[in-house]
Amino acid sequence: MHADIVVMPGDGIGPEVTAAAVDVLRAVAIRYGHSFRFEEKLIGGAAIDAAGNALPDDTVAAAQRADAVLLGAVGGPKWSDPKASVRPEQGLLAIRKALGLYANLRPVKPHAVALGASPIKPHLLQGVDLVVVRELTGGIYFGQKQRTADRASDLCEYSVAEIKRVVRHACRLALQRSGRLTSVDKANVLETSRLWREVTTQVVHDEFPDVTLEHQLVDSMAMHLIAKPREYDVIVTENMFGDILTDEASMLAGSLGLLPSASLGEGSVGLYEPIHGSAPDIAGRGVANPYAAILSAAMLLRHSLGLDAEAACVERAVHGALEAGFLTADLALGKPAVGTQAATAAVIEQLQLPCQVPELRD
Ligand code: IPM
Ligand code: MG
Repeated sequence: MHADIVVMPGDGIGPEVTAAAVDVLRAVAIRYGHSFRFEEKLIGGAAIDAAGNALPDDTVAAAQRADAVLLGAVGGPKWSDPKASVRPEQGLLAIRKALGLYANLRPVKPHAVALGASPIKPHLLQGVDLVVVRELTGGIYFGQKQRTADRASDLCEYSVAEIKRVVRHACRLALQRSGRLTSVDKANVLETSRLWREVTTQVVHDEFPDVTLEHQLVDSMAMHLIAKPREYDVIVTENMFGDILTDEASMLAGSLGLLPSASLGEGSVGLYEPIHGSAPDIAGRGVANPYAAILSAAMLLRHSLGLDAEAACVERAVHGALEAGFLTADLALGKPAVGTQAATAAVIEQLQLPCQVPELRD
């Protein structure tokens, strides 16, 4: 097939890890007979420097025309002045909103090789395989913000329609997996959470009777995620809770550098990005872990291009590279580590091996 992919490298290690993911996608195209065209566009701090705006119009226009978007990371100390009127993160929030990407899938499946890198006891991690579905275009991130000399406020708002569409997405995913869904809120305190809980209960009752629904308060979820992560499968939650819980969940996988994400809306265009940030402290040194970006490219193949088998083969190739000992510094625990390019080359080499995929998930 042919696909047009817009690449937004962004800031910090973003350019290094997206270059790695593009190399892998080029290898997929050759190996499986596809043609992918890549077009680079500015976002974040890089766009502020070049155009004075974290999300230039032509970046949005290119993304709207594309089949999928691959993004690195945005932000860094250079643009972190609290008084600055433009911030790199605005670009990321605005592209999510502009493309209507309300469902953010963040799968967490610790790889055996990475278990040692997790601060959590390995026996708790065996068999963990969960996906957080984070609502991405509503809630406190997008509500009205106000600031006076001695007060500030951020409004958290959700409509029934916004809750319904993301919960439906999570239910469909749950049905492809174990059928279990955990909805996370703070219904003992927040009105938006009470609405969230009501609507979720209703959607499951009316439309997905085969889904087993459980509600969790976000504070106890934060605890259970560490104490008994194996018990969870699909977790659906609002924007900010999802942001926080997925950084926590990344520790189950050993490193933030291993977690990919897919941001999806109604159409097939999606935005794919590692959940890690721009890591300015290691940027430009060739040592960043490219696996999360490569796994994000695998999600792109699956969710935007419908190339399920190719996606699974990329995932398998990443596992193969990890198993063969290609560990970046975040995973090597002080032992000699490989750099971004060596890790990427290892994945591309693994991709050349025969790959059969009986079981496709997430
Ligand atoms: C994420 C990030 C972003 C978010 C930031 C960079 C705006 O933390 O994708 O999880 O909060 O959504
Ligand atoms: Mg985050």
